[in-house]
Amino acid sequence: MTLMEAIEARHSVRAYTDRPIPPEIRAELDRCAQACSREGRLHITVRYDDPDGFDSRLAHYGSFRNVRNYIVLAGEKNADFNLRCGYYGEKLVLQAQQLGLNTCWAALTFSKKNVRALLSPGESLCMVIALGYGETQGKPHKGKTYDQVAEGEGAPDWFRAGVEAALLAPTAVNQQKFRFAYADGRATLRARGLGTCLRTDLGIVLYHFEAVSGRRPDVL
Ligand SMILES: Cc1cc2nc3c(=O)[nH]c(=O)nc-3n(C[C@H](O)[C@H](O)[C@H](O)COP(=O)(O)O)c2cc1C
Repeated sequence: MTLMEAIEARHSVRAYTDRPIPPEIRAELDRCAQACSREGRLHITVRYDDPDGFDSRLAHYGSFRNVRNYIVLAGEKNADFNLRCGYYGEKLVLQAQQLGLNTCWAALTFSKKNVRALLSPGESLCMVIALGYGETQGKPHKGKTYDQVAEGEGAPDWFRAGVEAALLAPTAVNQQKFRFAYADGRATLRARGLGTCLRTDLGIVLYHFEAVSGRRPDVL
C-alpha cells in the first residue's frame, strides 16, 4: 500500500478484534517510533497487549472497545510540543495503516492515570493513539472542501495535492480548523478560530500536506 493509498484508506476505528499484532509488525512499528522520537525530540512508545490504557469509564463512554495496543506520545514540553506530537504521531498512524492496522487518536477518552504511570519523570503526555486490527475499516467522514480551507491565486498542483491530502487527515471532533495559503511560490499553514487540540491537529495536517506535496509550509 502506498502512502497515498494509506491516506485514503485511513478512518478512525474504535472497536478492535483480539488478533494480536505479530512480532515482525511490532519490530517495524518500534523502529518507526524510535526514528520519530529521535527526529522529533520526543518519547514515542508503542504499548502492546496492554488493555489498561483504555480501561476507564470514559474510554467506554467514548465508544472505544477492546483497545489492547496503543501509541503513547510524550516528551519534554516546549512551545511546539503538540505540533511535533501531531506530526510524528500521524507519521506512525499512516505507517500502521500501511502495515494493515487501524488506529484512532484519543485526547480524552482513555485512562490518563494508567498512561501517565508509564512516563519517565519530567515527561509530559500529549495524547495516545489506539492501535490494532479493527472490527471494521471505519468509514469516510463528511468534511470541508478545498475552497473552505485554502486560498491563493494560481496555486500549483503540488499545493492542491497537499491540501487534498490534508482534508483526509483526522482532526479532533472532525473540526478541520486549519487554513492553507499559497503566495509567491510558498505555502503557509495556520489554525483558524477556536477549538480543542488545534496545535496537534495542525501537526497532523502538516504531515499529510508535506508527505504528498514534498513541500513544507511555514506554520504560522
Ligand atoms: C487530536 C485528536 C484527538 C482526538 N480525540 C478523540 C477522542 O478523545 N475520542 C474519540 O473517540 N475520537 C477522538 N479523535 C478522533 C476524531 O474524532 C476523528 O479523527 C474525526 O472525527 C475524523 O474522523 P476520521 O478520523 O475517521 O477521518 C481525535 C482525533 C484527533 C486528531
